[in-house]
Amino acid sequence: FQVPQAVNEPIKSYAPGTPEREAVLKAYKEMYNRKIEVPLYIGSEEIKTGDTAPMNPPHDHKHHLGDYHKASKEHVEKAINAALEAREKWANLAWEQRAAVFLKAAELIAGPYRYKINAATMIGQSKNIFQAEIDSACELIDFLRFNVEYMTRIYEEQPESTADAWNRLEYRPLEGFVYAVTPFNFTAIAGNLPSAPALMGNVAVWKPSDSQVYSAQVIMEVFKEAGLPDGVINMVMGDPKMISDVVISHRDFAGLHFTGSTTVFKHLWKQIGNNIDNYRSYPRIVGETGGKDFIIAHPSARPKQVATAISRGAFEFQGQKCSAASRVYIPKSMWEEVKKYLVEDIKSFKMGSPEDMSNFITAVIHEASFDKLAKFIDAAKNDADAEIVVGGNYDKSKGWFIEPTVILTDNPKYSTMCTELFGPVVTVYLYEDDQWSETLKLVDDSEYALTGAILSQDRYAAAEATQALQNAAGNFYINDKPTGAVVGQQPFGGARGSGTNDKAGSILNLYRWISPRTIKETF
Ligand code: ALA
Repeated sequence: FQVPQAVNEPIKSYAPGTPEREAVLKAYKEMYNRKIEVPLYIGSEEIKTGDTAPMNPPHDHKHHLGDYHKASKEHVEKAINAALEAREKWANLAWEQRAAVFLKAAELIAGPYRYKINAATMIGQSKNIFQAEIDSACELIDFLRFNVEYMTRIYEEQPESTADAWNRLEYRPLEGFVYAVTPFNFTAIAGNLPSAPALMGNVAVWKPSDSQVYSAQVIMEVFKEAGLPDGVINMVMGDPKMISDVVISHRDFAGLHFTGSTTVFKHLWKQIGNNIDNYRSYPRIVGETGGKDFIIAHPSARPKQVATAISRGAFEFQGQKCSAASRVYIPKSMWEEVKKYLVEDIKSFKMGSPEDMSNFITAVIHEASFDKLAKFIDAAKNDADAEIVVGGNYDKSKGWFIEPTVILTDNPKYSTMCTELFGPVVTVYLYEDDQWSETLKLVDDSEYALTGAILSQDRYAAAEATQALQNAAGNFYINDKPTGAVVGQQPFGGARGSGTNDKAGSILNLYRWISPRTIKETF
């Protein structure tokens, strides 16, 4: 079971004057002005259905990048059939052959496709270059490489045998196909959700987010160039409800690999429940869903470190990471100092198009998100129990731009302390310094449990928080921001309304995509 040792892909700097910066800018400019058409990828075909939807960069929404083609019910059925036709050969292919495809995909992204996939993510999802690099290059490469290593660890696990009975575990894929539903916010997650099951021998129907189609197409190109056989991963866009209805009512639906909203995931789960009598096997359901991620500072924390954790944890990629900090608990005695650093830091953030690489903040993903955020910001301007500390302006004339905004409240249950906003808005609640243990209970009282961070120089306080918040975050950070989990280092996922906690980028996730057979042979 020897495979190349998985190592994290080094992050390129893109500093001014570097050839990497020139290369990604060149790709950006070329791709921005070239009209693209994204077809459905079904079996060996690239299908232009003629029923199209426009693609516009969030930071320049009047610019027409091109169109993607939408599937009809028949196309979705065709995608399922293509997957099922590919299944037998793919499932029975030696694991090394499957691994080689995805290792090659990782090398293609690390090399010739790096600037293209980064530029597609910058253009289509409005990531700044650093956020694009850590996502669509490094994290996606890491998923592909580490999953291969985890796969071999699974295959190595074999039961005891005796002199007359040879016991073996055969790690078969699921009988049927996997449905991958992916979000706009990470190109890496979009690539991982269909490819992790495929690596384990499964076939997939993949529905990318309408807002991530540009980089999704690059992923498909990479998989094809890496030699992924036709039909193993089939990409379809279009009406999400229709696509899910067709997929989930199919007898061979064998698993859901989902990242997206809690509401949609619960809806799909119920739909699967309603169809349970129709399936060949019980489907695997794996989902990473919403979050209301926290930072809590103990009175012993360093104010500057607290401010940096907030400004980076809440505002990288405009707060649109599922891991982004969105509710913060700070001792009253520390606030003035934290505020000074925080405001200073936020005011240094430049906002605009990702093409100008000095911009830290770019646009939020679409108008619906912009409108929702603007509504909550306006409410905070008027509500008696909230005030805007910094930010609070927005402008949609060119792109969906929302200033990084800090709301201060004296109500721990204020709307923006509880509602998932998915944008550059963070709410701070100040607690009395002697109410530390009570505040931990407030932090724990959430329907979500994805990420969270405690900042403390007091070891006993850090230990108390680690214990008290054991169910409050699947990824818990001590003296750091709650974002930026690295594949192979911090397996990612949460529980409660945040998901099934099957830890993307870990061996635990891959176990969900196999249906092992135990073989006993007697002599
Ligand atoms: N891996 C991403 C993060 O931790 C979701 O921010």
